[in-house]
Amino acid sequence: MARVLLLFAHPALEKSRVNRPLAEVARASGVTFHDLYEAYPDFDVDVGAEQQRLLDHDVLVFQHPFYWYQPPALVKQWLDLVLEHGWAYGTGGTALRGKRWLHAITTGGREAAYAREGFNRFSVRELLAPLEQTARLCGAEFLAPFVVHGTHRLDADGIAAAAREYGALLAALREERVEFAAAAGAARLNADVSAVVRP
Ligand SMILES: Cc1cc2nc3c(=O)[nH]c(=O)nc-3n(C[C@H](O)[C@H](O)[C@H](O)COP(=O)(O)O)c2cc1C
Repeated sequence: MARVLLLFAHPALEKSRVNRPLAEVARASGVTFHDLYEAYPDFDVDVGAEQQRLLDHDVLVFQHPFYWYQPPALVKQWLDLVLEHGWAYGTGGTALRGKRWLHAITTGGREAAYAREGFNRFSVRELLAPLEQTARLCGAEFLAPFVVHGTHRLDADGIAAAAREYGALLAALREERVEFAAAAGAARLNADVSAVVRP
């Protein structure tokens, strides 16, 4: 079994419609669930504890809503502090080599808006370029994001379907049933789950 670390970041969980049920599925899925805003309401990240947690896992999943086309601020603070020179990158910085890194993202905008001719001009995967390059610099393999688009228009059935899909992906990551080459090349992991997950 792969050891999956889920780094959850939502600054206003009490208002969440979509991430909350997804997080509930994740908590029950056997991954290590770590709520960053709960752990660090003052952004005072415990670097040693975070680094040890990373060392103890094979797959890193960052779950968060899309805020201004990027993760919420605490994820940036976490990256700035935890991925130290000589530990995550640079001379002797090999701690994340070979690990898998992916984002599970919810967006208010619909998928059609995240296209060249659409309102947002770029896909979510394209907008994650700095994170993809950060993973690459650290020697980790960046996988396509799992994206739930159009959250404002999702009804209860749509949210439940997204949560089921997310649970199935987390189970496949734990059970090492994900085709990593296909998952690295896709635009969105859940565009065609059968292309990246073995039964
Ligand atoms: C500060 C802020 C910035 C946002 N920026 C974006 C954005 O750049 N693109 C987008 O599609 N949705 C954006 N949204 C909408 C959120 O992504 C959406 O409300 C969230 O994914 C829904 O998940 P939740 O129900 O778990 O909060 C933004 C929302 C807030 C509050």
